Amino acid sequence: MPGIRGRPGSPRPDFGLPKGLPASDAGQRQLLERLGRVATKLGTRAFLVGGPVRDLLLGRASPDLDVAVEASSREFGKVVALELGGRFLFHSRFLTGTVTLPDSSHIDITRTRTESYTRPAVLPRVRPAHIRQDLFRRDFTMNAMALELAPRSFGRIIDPCNGQIDLSRRIVRVLHDRSFVDDPTRIFRCVRFAVRFGFEIEERTLRLMREAVALRYASLLTPERALWELRLTCAEPLVLQMVEALVKENVLQSTWEWTPPESLLPGLARLVQSRAAPDLIFLFLLSTLPVTDRFPVRREERDAADALNAFGATRARLARACKPGAVYRLLHPIPEPALKILAALEPVRVSRHIKDQLRVFSHTRPELTGRDLRALGVEPGPRYRAILERLLYARLDGRVRSREDELRLCRRMLGAGKR
Ligand code: CTP
Repeated sequence: MPGIRGRPGSPRPDFGLPKGLPASDAGQRQLLERLGRVATKLGTRAFLVGGPVRDLLLGRASPDLDVAVEASSREFGKVVALELGGRFLFHSRFLTGTVTLPDSSHIDITRTRTESYTRPAVLPRVRPAHIRQDLFRRDFTMNAMALELAPRSFGRIIDPCNGQIDLSRRIVRVLHDRSFVDDPTRIFRCVRFAVRFGFEIEERTLRLMREAVALRYASLLTPERALWELRLTCAEPLVLQMVEALVKENVLQSTWEWTPPESLLPGLARLVQSRAAPDLIFLFLLSTLPVTDRFPVRREERDAADALNAFGATRARLARACKPGAVYRLLHPIPEPALKILAALEPVRVSRHIKDQLRVFSHTRPELTGRDLRALGVEPGPRYRAILERLLYARLDGRVRSREDELRLCRRMLGAGKR
């Protein structure tokens, strides 16, 4: 299994990592320098923190810009938005805010803080603190680094937990023994980072993770937080390997009291192979979970997952269907996302019908409209729908091909109705 082997964690000073900020992305560098100058003007210090620092050191593009400031994040955010012509949204409960720049990119701003956990798996109490303390509250050594933005020390890395050493040794390591208990989302994160970067999980970290899994700490998370981790996993290019690892390590089983169906990994592999979008992969996983009323999913997601589970009854009839109209009748009630998933999963004789439905049948309409029916003397009412539906089936099955054909059929129907 990629990444899920324990590795002894004694540090070895073998870096090979770029020190400080590479000059490669000049635009980003200028932006960070400006943020540093704003902080200095306000008499404080700002830092790039967490994931972006890790990604920078790994030479990977980072989608985020996470900045921590040793003062009011509200004040800092307001001034940054003003300087850069952006908009600032502040969430007072978490002392965090987001500046949205004119090009729609974001800067997430937090107050440097410590966190204390009163109970396992609940959100922590936060208190303002200096940058070093802020780094000690974090999940893994690779995510516990900051890059100074102040003009005088720009680009210097603050790394009190030896994150650079662990990056160069390619290991995921927690900062303390209670990390997974305090915040069991870190179990998912641990697997995600290990697989994403092809790292191994350090021996003690792996033992702590397995203990937290055995004691089912992730089942204490709110359903929102647990499902969010699954959504994040689905958005990863290596989602198959991640789910494989999460199943092998019993993480999903211990979060939801769930037994993975045998079709899980082969199904997921097919979806990945067919380049399914993350939301479809999520729906597929959701359909295998014991979804309850407490699952915080949208109505459409629940409906699609239900439709996937109920498809067994339709499959045999679909395999026998010869006419497009019959295919349409069977597949029309199934939501489109579920059809897209089934098109990738089902055997050819079924999936070709599903693909036809998606590409052609579901877009087919009769040429006549309600206005034409009125012109033919039909009173508006439920009859309209019945007539238009029959026209649609006639068109799907090739019994009508033009507006004239439809008018003829319509007149026949109306004549038959009068008799
Ligand atoms: N963090 C943490 N514990 C968590 C979640 C986040 O300590 N349960 C800290 C880590 O320092 C992390 C930072 O908050 O780097 C930002 O979190 P997030 O944006 O979720 O993760 P990233 O590390 O940026 O990872 P990704 O590349 O997946 O966005």
